Amino acid sequence: MAELAEDVLRGDLRALARASTLIENQEPGADGLLRDIAAHAGRALVLGITGAPGAGKSTLCDHIISLLRAEGKTVGVIAVDPSSPVTGGAILGDRIRMQQHHADPGVFIRSMATRGIPGGIARATAGLATLLDAAGRDVVIIETVGVGQSEVEIARLAQVTILVVVPGFGDDVQAMKAGVLEIADIFVINKADLPGADKLAQELHPVAGDRPVLRTVASEGQGIADLIEAMRACRREAHLQPAAVGPRIDHLGIAVRSLDHALEFYQAQLGLRVALRETVAQEKVNVAMLALGDPRIELLEPTEPDSVIGRFLEKRGEGLHHIALKVPDLLAAVDRLRLAGARILNEPRAGAGGHLYVFVHPASTGGVLLELIQA
Ligand code: CO
Repeated sequence: MAELAEDVLRGDLRALARASTLIENQEPGADGLLRDIAAHAGRALVLGITGAPGAGKSTLCDHIISLLRAEGKTVGVIAVDPSSPVTGGAILGDRIRMQQHHADPGVFIRSMATRGIPGGIARATAGLATLLDAAGRDVVIIETVGVGQSEVEIARLAQVTILVVVPGFGDDVQAMKAGVLEIADIFVINKADLPGADKLAQELHPVAGDRPVLRTVASEGQGIADLIEAMRACRREAHLQPAAVGPRIDHLGIAVRSLDHALEFYQAQLGLRVALRETVAQEKVNVAMLALGDPRIELLEPTEPDSVIGRFLEKRGEGLHHIALKVPDLLAAVDRLRLAGARILNEPRAGAGGHLYVFVHPASTGGVLLELIQA
């Protein structure tokens, strides 16, 4: 194992900072580092905090950190803000807001602005979350502005996602992005002392169903303890879900000529919900992820004919392109398959969402391209 990985796992702060930069900029060596430390991640509580600018997320975050620190917990914070000006790699606003924790070695804060590549920021965030988790942080907080698709993707990384809304800020429930409402595990009405809080709560309750709707006044530290309680309860519930023992279906990838046309069937007629829609520039593909319980359907539309999906359509026409399975230990699975002579098409690499994956050639699988993803 590389020295940097060892230092990170020992909890060395300078190594952690160096590793963060490596992952954030997706420099060579970042994937190798993540591979080295991946087995040590999975212990932290990963918390997502999302909401429109001005909702008071950072103040809320500040108070959550203070309470966790009072319990002796260590915290890692990844603040993702596509709209903030970047100053020397850090976002000025977040720096100032979370300054009170800056001298505390128990709080590691990283601010990120948007990457040039779509999906890049989600990948960097996933990598950073794994890094902080492996480095032994008890709680990893991912703070995002809940407006774009990449934020929805980022929130998906969290075990518990908190959506922060405020009365009278155009936070009309009708106007909120469906994706954002769906990913929330806990709704927080912040600045609940403002007029309109009751009306907002009334609108939220039917949407929230049995998910908690809490009220906070973050500037005064009100309601934070209840919020922490709710997020722990939420995570316990998640832990009661049956654990994945063997491989499970993650998604089915279907190549289509036109997303809009395919969605006419899957969304409008069949009633599936689009959980995520994005363009993956490197793969020259437009993707729509359809929610379907745990496994999903991934519709793939080429952005140009000269691409993997474009060539597939040319040769085979529309249809099932790949099956993706989540496996508990990807590297072990790859070793096993290689030994048995299977054709692995790539070295394990991190995809959107940061999970490592490989493709297995159809010649080894009975004729269908197989994607294996680290669970
Ligand atoms: Co796929």
